[in-house]
Amino acid sequence: MKRKQIVAGNWKMNMNFDEGRDLAISIVRKLGPLKNEVILCPPFIHLNYLSVISKDIANLHIGAQNCHQKDKGAYTGEIAASMLKSVGCSYVILGHSERRQYFGEDGALLAAKVDTALANNLKPIFCVGEKLDAREAGKQEKVVEKQLKSGLFHLGETQFSNVVLAYEPVWAIGTGKTASPEQAQDMHQFIRKLVAQKYSVNIAEGTSILYGGSVKPANAKAIFSQADVDGGLIGGAALKAADFVSIINSFPQA
Ligand code: 13P
Repeated sequence: MKRKQIVAGNWKMNMNFDEGRDLAISIVRKLGPLKNEVILCPPFIHLNYLSVISKDIANLHIGAQNCHQKDKGAYTGEIAASMLKSVGCSYVILGHSERRQYFGEDGALLAAKVDTALANNLKPIFCVGEKLDAREAGKQEKVVEKQLKSGLFHLGETQFSNVVLAYEPVWAIGTGKTASPEQAQDMHQFIRKLVAQKYSVNIAEGTSILYGGSVKPANAKAIFSQADVDGGLIGGAALKAADFVSIINSFPQA
């Protein structure tokens, strides 16, 4: 099974309505026919508009940055997976380190969110990654293994095949410090091995694993050319149309 190559843009909490519309239009204008999948993950206010303008563009998808674990109800300020689906989302980022760090999201909560997303036909982009102290102590694999086991590995095979993984070392997010292509490859290979052990080699070979953390046009090619890196989850550089499109075009030619 050939796995998908994907570039996803995580706009985080940036872009008011006009700015987001202009950015999306500018990205769409610069895109050639897409050979790989591209996912735009803006704040909620942009989802409807973006899904309208991307509707007829093959391989361009819309994702959200979070959803609640419950189907609906009295959860003021939250958003339901079914609502995201109803405005055209196909993906939802779950387990981002900023959600883990600032909103206390742990493995049990994330497991529930993953279940709700999948039950509503949203594909989770499930993020894992160690902090700097864990990397310095050589404990990065332990941290990532625990995150996968607690948030994701309760899934059955069929459910798991709808998940995209993203390795985002926390020390590389928004810091300008990228993991080296070798560090990214080592971790991605490790993650794929865990997936093979839990599910099967076939499932592992079909799972897209994205790298995130200070990916820019200047380093995307070197990172995307690693055997187990299937694309990127892009923060800062996704807010500039030219940079984002340049990253989309950074996969090695087949
Ligand atoms: P930066 O690309 O800004 O480092 O952010 C990465 C990220 O967190 C994407 O989810």
